[in-house]
Amino acid sequence: MEKIIDEKKQGESLIMNKKEGNQRKLFIESYGCQMNFSDSEIVASILQNEGFNTTQNLEDADLVLVNTCSIRDKAEQTVRKRLEKYNAVKKINPSMKVGVLGCMAERLKSKFLEEEKIVDLVVGPDAYKDLPNLIAEVDEGRDAVNVILSKEETYGDIAPVRLNSNGVTAFVSITRGCDNMCTFCVVPFTRGRERSRNPQSIIEEINDLWSKGFKEVTLLGQNVDSYLWYGGGLKKDFEKASEMQKATSVNFANLLDLCAKAQPKMRFRFSTSNPQDMTMDVIEAMARHKNICKYIHLPVQSGSNRILKEMNRQHTREEYFEMIDNIKRIIPDCAISQDMIAGFPTETEEDHQDTLSLMEYVKYDFGFMFAYSERPGTMAGRKMEDDIPEDVKKRRLNEIIQLQQKHGLERTQAHVGKVEEVLIEKSSKRSDAHWAGRNSQNTMVVFPKENYKVGEFVNVKITDCTSATLMGEAVGYSDNN
Ligand code: SAH
Ligand code: F3S
Repeated sequence: MEKIIDEKKQGESLIMNKKEGNQRKLFIESYGCQMNFSDSEIVASILQNEGFNTTQNLEDADLVLVNTCSIRDKAEQTVRKRLEKYNAVKKINPSMKVGVLGCMAERLKSKFLEEEKIVDLVVGPDAYKDLPNLIAEVDEGRDAVNVILSKEETYGDIAPVRLNSNGVTAFVSITRGCDNMCTFCVVPFTRGRERSRNPQSIIEEINDLWSKGFKEVTLLGQNVDSYLWYGGGLKKDFEKASEMQKATSVNFANLLDLCAKAQPKMRFRFSTSNPQDMTMDVIEAMARHKNICKYIHLPVQSGSNRILKEMNRQHTREEYFEMIDNIKRIIPDCAISQDMIAGFPTETEEDHQDTLSLMEYVKYDFGFMFAYSERPGTMAGRKMEDDIPEDVKKRRLNEIIQLQQKHGLERTQAHVGKVEEVLIEKSSKRSDAHWAGRNSQNTMVVFPKENYKVGEFVNVKITDCTSATLMGEAVGYSDNN
């Protein structure tokens, strides 16, 4: 490694192997949330126009881009390990250039270049359109950095290149950034202020996906319920909009209606919802449309009112229960999942018991559970001591995970005996003779292939289950085909 750095410093072997025409190869990989995977498809599209084709082979790459996550320290460590691997490959392929995208790029900025000598390029989540210029800089032997956050950028005008696609399901991003400022969370700092994408460009992307054979779209945002289009601009500036703009604005429930009607046979999912921004009209829109899947990811983080307040989550445990009651009343078969954080600063045993009792009330179908990880620059990172010992965090986390597994199994078992519509996505991991696809509630269903094909909607009689997977037999096509 040292030798390569020395060469770089001395200005030798600087020019990236510029090959003719369409021959440069891009290896791009993503860590973290679905938004990162979706952003990488935007990046691949921008670079396709610059003559880069994607490759699955790291060793072949002229340019390696890694889309990174900062949400917990462990996520950052994973990326740093990956950089070590690139370093090893660079010994065989010295002209290879390495760029870092996403939240770690935004958080560390040019410090990345100092900390990780392998890195030539640092690009934040709102600066991907500048990649052609930045790569030109790198081609000329200079390191390049652009981490400017934007008020408008939504990449609504870019048609993503679908990477690692099954040809059936796709992500479509609808908002960027987050204004909620949960005290533990780095996202508002790495992804900037919240802005929504033009609904017309969303519908156009959905129509295009349908014409290419896709059957399910997940609408993505850090906080989808907060979607608000009034002609462009930041969510927080909505108050300054004209009366006309306000009157013709499109909120998330309106957007769901637009999507569901634009492609009545396409399935729609969305993620992530935030309890403080989710409104009854969203639940009603879900109930109104058969093609909006009956599944809500509704992170709560803690069941203790005191901790919720410390986290700057803008709702109480009681308000959350009210929302859950409304969901269950209006959409009785709706699946609900959570994110939980164990061991937030000052969390007592009593607070932790409140989390467990909240879980008992809701009985979530799925859950994503984490030990608190202090993030530099966040309000909690600056103002609160990370005072819960690691072993206590771990024990509380395990109790949460175990309770979730129990509830998950109960919820999965409740499907047995029913006939449910499944969209076939791929072969089952365990058996080539079986298909795998999800039901409306997002549970994986596995069943014998017979003559059915990927991309078809099939009615499956559920006969058995494990804690996370349903097994069954197809009883015919659903009327959605
Ligand atoms: N926008 C989503 C969450 C985005 S981050 C929301 O509305 O909640 C995904 C999840 O990571 C969060 O829900 C939270 O459970 C977890 N997380 C975020 N910051 C964390 C931290 N500092 N330590 C541990 N977990 C964290
Ligand atoms: Fe993070 Fe809270 Fe937004 S968890 S992404 S600040 S809703």
